[in-house]
Amino acid sequence: MKQINIGLLGLGNIGTGTYKVLETNRREIEEAAGASVQITKILEKDIDRPRDIDVPRERFVSDAEEIFSDPDIHIVIELLGGVEPAATLMERALCSGKHVVTANKAALAANFDRLMKAAKDHGVTLRFEASVGGGIPVLTPLTSCLRANKFTRILGIVNGTTNYILDKMTLEGLPYEEVLKDAQEKGFAEADPTADVEGIDAANKLSILMALMFNHYVHPDDIPTKGITDITKEDIEAAKKDGNLIKLIAYAEVMEDGEIKYEVRPMRIIETHPLGGVHREYNAVFVEGNVVGNLMFYGPGAGPLPTGSAVMGDVIEIVKAM
Ligand code: HSE
Repeated sequence: MKQINIGLLGLGNIGTGTYKVLETNRREIEEAAGASVQITKILEKDIDRPRDIDVPRERFVSDAEEIFSDPDIHIVIELLGGVEPAATLMERALCSGKHVVTANKAALAANFDRLMKAAKDHGVTLRFEASVGGGIPVLTPLTSCLRANKFTRILGIVNGTTNYILDKMTLEGLPYEEVLKDAQEKGFAEADPTADVEGIDAANKLSILMALMFNHYVHPDDIPTKGITDITKEDIEAAKKDGNLIKLIAYAEVMEDGEIKYEVRPMRIIETHPLGGVHREYNAVFVEGNVVGNLMFYGPGAGPLPTGSAVMGDVIEIVKAM
């Protein structure tokens, strides 16, 4: 059996989840890939943090170049989060001839064309299924099984934190601040939840969806974006009276004249719409294709193991194509 070696950038929550996915399902992953798969080097400063996984200390490196210059490493998985240094390191990896897998929507959305070009120029693959919808397979089906479509509309609940908050406000009639605090205590919302509650995370994901589905890249800073911080329980009550729910929606639509409209903002959704059934921290992407019709991808949009599942799925696809 051939051996595939991986360099992992970042052993935080998602890095640890990905490591666990490989350890837990090694047999399934290696059978599907047709190769033995090892994470041989890990870029991480915080070696001693308790993680509930057994990582041999000699695998840790402090300089990413040790990974990029290693001729035995075939794939780099980037799970650092944040735009920089993640984007520069991904570009370095691609330019060093490594295939790259990432879950990092912020770095990817801000540098989509640059990273795709680096992959093309160096004859390697950049895969990022986990960057939108966490564990939900959405980008791969949109760009393979559904490729025969002209897509006309996207309506996405692509941020788990804000869906959790709005859902709990709706079901329990609680005010925003109280639910945010509860979400932080339960670990759904970050200590600094700005990117989630201001809609920035959803805009990053919409940028990636539009680039793939409409072949139209828009930098996330150029997507009109409004978060959920102003939503009151009275707004939610008023929507309910009309049979509606308030959801944070990443929306894009191709108009008849070809113009593309896009924005992220809290929208009223009729309760009986498939998106109305998306509760708690779950995500869903509802799309309209001109030949397939309407369909919705639904599932766990965040979390270490669901995200690790999508990351390792990308690794398997790369190994199969190698
Ligand atoms: N903070 C994100 C969310 C994580 O709440 O959905 C997954 O991208």
